[in-house]
Amino acid sequence: MKLILDTANLDDIRYFNTYYPIVGVTTNPTILSREGGDIVAHLHEIRKIIGDEKELHIQVTETEYEAIVKEAKMIVKAFGKKSFVKIPATDIGLRATKTLSDEGIGVTVTAVLSAGQALLAANAGAAYVAPYVSRLENICENGVETVAEIQQIFDAAGCDTEILAASFKTAREVLEVALTGAGAATVAADVMKKLLSHTTTDTSIAGFAADWEKAFGKRTLGSML
Ligand code: E4P
Repeated sequence: MKLILDTANLDDIRYFNTYYPIVGVTTNPTILSREGGDIVAHLHEIRKIIGDEKELHIQVTETEYEAIVKEAKMIVKAFGKKSFVKIPATDIGLRATKTLSDEGIGVTVTAVLSAGQALLAANAGAAYVAPYVSRLENICENGVETVAEIQQIFDAAGCDTEILAASFKTAREVLEVALTGAGAATVAADVMKKLLSHTTTDTSIAGFAADWEKAFGKRTLGSML
C-alpha cells in the first residue's frame, strides 16, 4: 500500500519527503486553511519540495460543474501532470469526474463515506476514491470494513480505480486498511510517525551501541575496514 502525507505543512513535507518512503502529498481546503497566506505560492513550494514525479492531490473549491472542470484544468496546468484533482462525491462531482477523466486528468473522488459512492466514482473514471476511515468510525460505522467492501467491488469488477484511504486517527487503522489490499493511504504526520516509532527499537539500538563500544571503543566498523 502506497503511503501519502496528509498535510500542507512545509516543515513536515520536507522531513517526511526526505526520510519516509512517501509517494506524494494530499491536501484539502481545511488543511490549506491551516497554512493561510499566499496559498498558490504555498502549493508551488510543496511541488518544489516533492519534485515533479510525486503525487500532489489538490481539492477543487468550485461547486458548479463548469466551474469545477475549469478549476481542475487550472490546477493541473499550475502544478503539473502528477497533480490529482480532488472532487467531492456528489452528482455534480461525478459529472465533472467523468469529463475530466475522459480528458486524461487524474481525479480523486473525495469525502467518500460509502461503497455505493465509490462504485459510482469508479464508473465515472476516478483514478482514486478516498474513503474517510475515522469519519466513518465517528458515525458508528466500520471504516475499515467499508474500505474492504470497496476493494472487493473493485477487484470483482477488475477496475483500475484505486482506493486512497483517508482520515486516519490511529496507526492501527492504517494497518487494518493495508490488510484490505487498498492501493494507497494518506496519513497525517503524527500518525505516520507512530507507524515507525517503537520504544523497543530505541532500546535495542542503544544496547547495540553500548555493547559495541565496550568491545571496540569509539571506532566504527567502517574505520576498521
Ligand atoms: C484527505 O486529504 C482527506 O481530506 C483527509 O484525510 C480528511 O481527514 P480528516 O477526517 O482528519 O479531516
